[in-house]
Amino acid sequence: MASASRTLSRALRTAAPTFRSTTTRSSRFIAPSQTAFRKQWQRGYATGQEDGPDKYEGNPTGLIWSAGALLVGVGVYGLYTLKPELFGQEPKATIFTPRFEDYQKAYNMIAKRLEEHDNYDDGSYGPVLLRLAWHASGTYDKLTNTGGSNGATMRFAPEGDHGANAGLKAARDFLEPVKAAFPWITYSDLWILGGVCSIQEMQGPKIPYRAGRSDRDLSFCTPDGRLPDASKDRSHIRAIFGRMGFSDKEMVALSGAHALGRCHTDRSGYDGPWTFSPTTFTNDYFKLLLEEKWGYKKWNGPKQFEDVKTKTLMMLPTDMEIVKDKSFRKYTELYASDNEAFFNDFRDAVVTLFELGVPFAQPEDQRWTFRSSFD
Ligand code: HEM
Repeated sequence: MASASRTLSRALRTAAPTFRSTTTRSSRFIAPSQTAFRKQWQRGYATGQEDGPDKYEGNPTGLIWSAGALLVGVGVYGLYTLKPELFGQEPKATIFTPRFEDYQKAYNMIAKRLEEHDNYDDGSYGPVLLRLAWHASGTYDKLTNTGGSNGATMRFAPEGDHGANAGLKAARDFLEPVKAAFPWITYSDLWILGGVCSIQEMQGPKIPYRAGRSDRDLSFCTPDGRLPDASKDRSHIRAIFGRMGFSDKEMVALSGAHALGRCHTDRSGYDGPWTFSPTTFTNDYFKLLLEEKWGYKKWNGPKQFEDVKTKTLMMLPTDMEIVKDKSFRKYTELYASDNEAFFNDFRDAVVTLFELGVPFAQPEDQRWTFRSSFD
């Protein structure tokens, strides 16, 4: 760079007079020694006249040199700005701002992987991905504004090892190749995208999404005990979901996610699916809760319910509470009879859940809706 600019200024100095202002320059501004040097230089090597014409006056070679040097200078400067590493400088970090279409590509990859890996559990990673998104978000505490999906702190041992999160490594590992293919996405945005994608791909409602969560270090891990305990009653459900700011109606709507997936003895200790179609999002959970006869399962495991007729389905003690409690029950009845009401209320509640405590820059009225593989 420095030599290029020296060449350029030398060429300009020796160029035709049109590039210089010899007539207007006052000798008052030239130091005496310089003046003497100039005179000597003019005498010895140029015209020999003190105020004679410049050596290169009217000589087109000077012009050509200066134009060439200018071009070289511009070229070198351009190269320097584009590829600073060629000049021994740090390469410039290019700021990539992902847009809707970039997230849609990540969504598509999750959807494709769901389809490809259909040998897991009941044929889909969808339920466990949704559980990951819910457990990432469900640690939120509105009083202290701590926890929630911002941070993806379940990556770290204290939180990842909480009993409630047993088995969620399967979901986190499933998403790793997506993170590798789209390194710009944060884990916390990716886990929620996984939940959104799973709901949509399992034929649930469209779930509007906002990006902007950041990954935080392990000091942001939440204490154990913020997620619900399935052995408890209605007061526990209200305490846990109330801490996040949810109403009775929203608690019931969110419970409808148990239409999906199953319990695993090696994770929670409970066993079995809630519905006959655990990889399709429906209101069957509410219908079965109301329509089937449920009795205690006779086994060595924790207290849980099974359907008397087939003994293949299960309900947790907390699931039974949304039928037994009067306020909860009216919403259970509503959702059992009206799938559309369930889809709408679930969508609204789960969007709230996924966004708890996240300081988004993307405004609420500009959420994105991803195309599913059925669209
Ligand atoms: C009182 C509230 C809740 C309790 C006590 C509860 C408890 C449980 C338990 C014990 C399991 C079985 C885990 C295993 O053994 O693998 C489970 C699975 C699941 N839960 Fe919940 N849950 C609650 C609320 C929710 C909510 C709000 C959602 C989502 C919005 C949700 C989504 C799921 C899903 C999709 C599964 C299936 C996971 C799989 O198949 O691997 N749950 N839940």
